[in-house]
Amino acid sequence: MSTDQKYILVVDDNPTNLAVISQALKVGGYKLRVASDGEEALAMVERCANLQSEQALPELILLDVQMPGIDGFETCRRLQENPATKAIPVIFMTALNDAESKVQGLSMGAVDYITKPFEQEEVLARVKVHWRLKQLTDYLEQEVAERTALLKHTQLQLIQQEKLSTLGQLVAGVAHEINNPLSFVVGNIAPAKEYLADITKLLNLYQKNYPQPVAAVAAQIEDMDLEFALEDFTKILDSMQLGTERIQDISLSLRNFARSSNDTRIKADLHEGMNSTLVLLKHRLKNQGNRGEIEVIKHYGNLPEVDCYPGPMNQVFMNLFANAIDALEEAWEKDQRPLKIQIDTEVYHDDTIIIQIADNALGMTENVRKNLFQPLFTTKSIGKGTGLGLSIAQQIVVDKHSGKLLCDSTPGNGTEFRVEIPL
Ligand SMILES: Nc1ncnc2c1ncn2[C@@H]1O[C@H](COP(=O)(O)OP(=O)(O)O)[C@@H](O)[C@H]1O
Ligand SMILES: [Mg+2]
Repeated sequence: MSTDQKYILVVDDNPTNLAVISQALKVGGYKLRVASDGEEALAMVERCANLQSEQALPELILLDVQMPGIDGFETCRRLQENPATKAIPVIFMTALNDAESKVQGLSMGAVDYITKPFEQEEVLARVKVHWRLKQLTDYLEQEVAERTALLKHTQLQLIQQEKLSTLGQLVAGVAHEINNPLSFVVGNIAPAKEYLADITKLLNLYQKNYPQPVAAVAAQIEDMDLEFALEDFTKILDSMQLGTERIQDISLSLRNFARSSNDTRIKADLHEGMNSTLVLLKHRLKNQGNRGEIEVIKHYGNLPEVDCYPGPMNQVFMNLFANAIDALEEAWEKDQRPLKIQIDTEVYHDDTIIIQIADNALGMTENVRKNLFQPLFTTKSIGKGTGLGLSIAQQIVVDKHSGKLLCDSTPGNGTEFRVEIPL
């Protein structure tokens, strides 16, 4: 609300009084509205308290005590009762010698009184004080509301980061624990293959030298389909080997991704970080249901190892890739285009690492682009998006690495995020 809309409500049944006080207030430069009794005043204020109302509540109410219908005290009581009007300061207007009214008015929640007959100077002086107090109170209330909102955001981010770091430790722990049992399997596949080869050789020798086995042996060979079993056994071992190799790959990526270097800078290979992150997102890149596969095109430049926080950097890549995948899924629903993510990396001017992650999804509107990095800003449904991904990514790139995180996007034309890390 702009200042020029602010006004004082004067309530008095006596036209002469109204005229005098209005004159005084106008001299002071105040805008006012008038009501001629308590009920009219209450109706007016309640209309203003309505959310859809154009008219704001008065800054101050000057209230006569003796009026027909409900008197000033009752009017004041009802104003106090209503949470929407409770905060409007009330100044009573009483006769000079009416000490009892003054006390009663103040005890009912009025902030002050002015006496009749009115002294213009006194009226203005008192109104000025309470007007100013009201402005200060409003300002403070607004300030508190804004800071509280900010605190909530910060707290949310902290909780989210704490969760991530706990999760990171858990993941790293699990990945580590998996390694031991996994190595039993991986390590035993090669000897198992050798034994199988030896046994096959032996059986072949038997068959060659004893072409006519006894009936029981012949029946067993027939029953188990020996030839097929031997052939299939090799294939089974091969696919077990492939499977365990994949588990090893994932376990390594998990450890890589979740490396707990949240608070120590070390030299790290950012390509390795991105590759690990992509391995963890493989299930989302693959074609799903009828959705096509997302092709990841890597144009990796020649990057040196970068002095950075690798765990948090991976978090940045994870958020950017996950957002691109979300956007591509939405694009697929619209027009089944071929889905692509392109990664470009290079060293710029010998002093900056540039990583660009682009998708060919639907892009975003100017409004989305402007709010992208706001904590809690999301266009996704509850459960799918938290709106924290990019604000956390920005914090990691900008605050932790003194870098830049920029976004370039036009609706219909895909989106490109650019991470810049100074060397
Ligand atoms: N690659 C992208 N393409 C289109 N919109 C995007 C892309 N990345 C982010 N956005 C928009 O930015 C918003 C905020 O992203 P983010 O902070 O990661 O939160 P969330 O993913 O939980 O919504 C998303 O809801 C989306 O509208
Ligand atoms: Mg996100």
